[in-house]
Amino acid sequence: MARTVLVTGGSRGIGRAVAARFRQAGDRVVITGRDAAKLTGTASEIDAEAVVCDAADPRQVRELAEAVGELDVLVNMAGGNTDIGREKPEGLDAVAAAWRDNLDANLLGAVLTTTAVLGSLNPGGTVINVGSIAAEYAGSAYGAAKAALAAWTAGLSAEIGPRGLTVNLISPGYIEDTDFFRGRMTEQRRDALVAATHTRRAGNPDDIAATVEFLASPGARHITGQTIHVNGGAHTTR
Ligand SMILES: NC(=O)c1ccc[n+]([C@@H]2O[C@H](COP(=O)([O-])OP(=O)(O)OC[C@H]3O[C@@H](n4cnc5c(N)ncnc54)[C@H](OP(=O)(O)O)[C@@H]3O)[C@@H](O)[C@H]2O)c1
Repeated sequence: MARTVLVTGGSRGIGRAVAARFRQAGDRVVITGRDAAKLTGTASEIDAEAVVCDAADPRQVRELAEAVGELDVLVNMAGGNTDIGREKPEGLDAVAAAWRDNLDANLLGAVLTTTAVLGSLNPGGTVINVGSIAAEYAGSAYGAAKAALAAWTAGLSAEIGPRGLTVNLISPGYIEDTDFFRGRMTEQRRDALVAATHTRRAGNPDDIAATVEFLASPGARHITGQTIHVNGGAHTTR
């Protein structure tokens, strides 16, 4: 039976691959992003519905929840490291602004979107948050925000589990073919990231889309409150 799937940050990169995969399976798919032109372009290419929405803006998120209605799968993909391309902050005001941007982008957006749609999730529904390998070495605001997202995911699982709902967090390693690095990835850095994997390759959006597909499948109904690492072995849990 066709499900309704909401993918925040579905206009580019990993989110686009996730949205396309659900759409190919025949699901109703709604994607969001802030850049309206990019979002509507992607929506028409993959045959999804588009709702322009900044995940960190409560009013826009409320309107998004109304537009989507009942749903089965929420994928909180919207995010990214807002420090990339930013001058190193000097002074407390600049540090506060930089940290707030990363917390808004990677923690608050997922919290607001989940809170807004929680009452509309059908029984058997699932929430999939997207963290980062950076959370394991959280020296940056980005890593700290993703670590907080993972902690919140575990707590939320206990809250919604009795309703027959699950929530997990996928933690990707380096994924290429995205706009994440905004053209700033060097060959040297890429080589180092690939060398850190056991598989000796970069991840790609389909690696994450396949994991999302599994977590949203009937076979994953007893998996909840977990961080699922998808990184070619660059970080292991033992
Ligand atoms: N690529 C990697 O190596 C990697 C590794 C670990 C984790 N991740 C995580 O994977 C997720 C997807 O990143 P990506 O690599 O696919 O990057 P990307 O290509 O830059 O895509 C990011 C997507 O998120 C949207 N977005 C960002 N902030 C948003 C906001 N406030 N409200 C709504 N949409 C927002 C963007 O659209 P607009 O800009 O138009 O809003 C875009 O659709 C992120 O959470 C990222 O932290 C990526």
